[in-house]
Amino acid sequence: MKKIVKNGRIFTEAEDYQADILIEEEKIVYIGKDLPDGDAEVIDAAGCYVLPGAVDVHTHMDLDVGISRAVDDFYDGTVAAACGGTTSIVDHMAFGPAGIPLHYQFDVYRKLAEGKAVIDYGFHGTAQHVDGEILSELETMAKDGIPSVKAYLTYGFKLNDADVLQILQKMKEINGITAFHCENHDVVEYLKQKHKSEGKTTPIWHAKSRPNLAEAEAVERVLKLARMADDAPVYIVHLSCRESLEAVREARRQGQKNIFVETCPQYLLLTEECYTREDGLKYIMSPPLRTQEDCDALWEGLADGSIQVVATDHCPFNYGKEKQMGKDDFTACPNGAPGVEERLMLLYSEGVAKGRITMHRLVETLCTKPCRIYGLYPEKGAIQPGADADLVILDPETSSVLTHSRMHGAVDYTSYEGMEIQGEIRLVMQRGNVLVKENQFIGEKGAGRFIRRKPCAEIAD
Ligand code: URP
Ligand code: ZN
Ligand code: ZN
Repeated sequence: MKKIVKNGRIFTEAEDYQADILIEEEKIVYIGKDLPDGDAEVIDAAGCYVLPGAVDVHTHMDLDVGISRAVDDFYDGTVAAACGGTTSIVDHMAFGPAGIPLHYQFDVYRKLAEGKAVIDYGFHGTAQHVDGEILSELETMAKDGIPSVKAYLTYGFKLNDADVLQILQKMKEINGITAFHCENHDVVEYLKQKHKSEGKTTPIWHAKSRPNLAEAEAVERVLKLARMADDAPVYIVHLSCRESLEAVREARRQGQKNIFVETCPQYLLLTEECYTREDGLKYIMSPPLRTQEDCDALWEGLADGSIQVVATDHCPFNYGKEKQMGKDDFTACPNGAPGVEERLMLLYSEGVAKGRITMHRLVETLCTKPCRIYGLYPEKGAIQPGADADLVILDPETSSVLTHSRMHGAVDYTSYEGMEIQGEIRLVMQRGNVLVKENQFIGEKGAGRFIRRKPCAEIAD
C-alpha cells in the first residue's frame, strides 16, 4: 500500500522545506511538491513538522543489574520509545556472568528482543573482560552487525587501562567504535564507603560520591589512551558536566580526531536539587545529576557542536519497588532512570521552542548523527529517497503537561512529572507502518527487526 505524507514542513539536519513524501514498500521513494494522491493513502501533515524517526543509541531494556532488572522489557520499552518518536534503538547488552564471550550476550539479547520489539533495534557489545578471545570476537561481532563495544570504567565489570588500550587498538583496526562509561572507580568507591561509614546515606550522597572531576578524570584518561591508539574512535556516553566537556574540547584543540560525545536530557534539564526531594531515589543514576551551571554548559556544547548526540540511557526501575532498596542506603539503590519516551518532546520544548538549539540541531543530534556514528545511515536518520520510511509528525503549536498517566512504559514514574511541554507528536511511522497516532500505540508486537549495522562512517584517518 502506497502512502503520501502531505503538506508537512520537512526538517533534516541541513534543510527546511515544504513537500510531500511518497512511501512504497517500507521506503521513501520520492519527495516533491503537490504529489498526486493516486491510489495512495494520504496522511495530512499540514501545520506540522516532519522529521526522521529519532534513534536512541543508548538504552538498557531488560537490563539485569544483579540486584534487580530494568522493568521495561523489549516490548514495553520500545512501545514507550515509539510513542516518544523513536523508531530505532541500539541497546547496550550487559551484564552476563563473568568471563562470558560477546556472542553469548548476543544470543541472550536476541532472544530478549525477538518477538517483542515494536521498533527496529541493534546492539552494542559490552566487554566485561579482555583477552585474546574477546579481541578476536570484536571482529566477528562487527561482521555480525555489531561494530561497537562498550567499556565501563566503573561498576563490577570495570576495565583497566591495559584492557582499554587493547580494545581501542582492535576497534581502530576494524573501523569499529568503543563507547565508554567514564567515572574514576576508585574515587567513587572510596567516597561511597566514606559517606556510608559516616551515616550519610540519603540520595544526595550519591551525587557527592561521584563528583564532576571523577568523571572528567576518566574522560581525560580515555582520550589519552585513544590517542595512544592512534586516534582510535571514542564515544563518551552520558557526559554530564562542564569539566568533562572541557577535557573533550582540549583534546580536540590538540588535534585529536574521532572523539564523539553524547549527553542525555536528564543532564540538560535536571539538577542535583532532585536528590534533596522526598522522592530523591528516583534520580539515582550514574553519573549523577549535576548543577545548573553544568546544564548550561551542556546546552552550549550541544548548540556549538561539541556534543554530537542526545541519547537517553533509559534504564528504568520502579520508584515504588526497586528504587526503595536504597531508602536507608543510597548505595543499595539500582542505578538508572527512565527517559526513552520523553527525549524528543523535551528536546523540542526545552531546546528548540526555548531558542537554545535550532530544529536542525535537534534532527542532527537525535536522528542523523547517531546513525552516521553507529552505522545505521542512510537507511535510518534521513529523509531522502531510499531511506526507510521512519517518520515523526510533530505539531509545534500545541502544548501539554508531561505526566506519567499519559506514558507507555512499564515504569511507575517520569522524572519530568508536571512539566509544561510545547509541541506534540501527532504520528510516528516505521518503514511506512503507522505505529503511533495521537499518543495511541497501534503497532504490532514483534514487528521490530534486528539492524545489522555497518562500520562507523565518521572516522577520520
Ligand atoms: O545509572 C545508570 N546510568 N544506569 C545504567 C547503566 C549505565 O551506567 O549506563
Ligand atoms: Zn553508564
Ligand atoms: Zn547506560
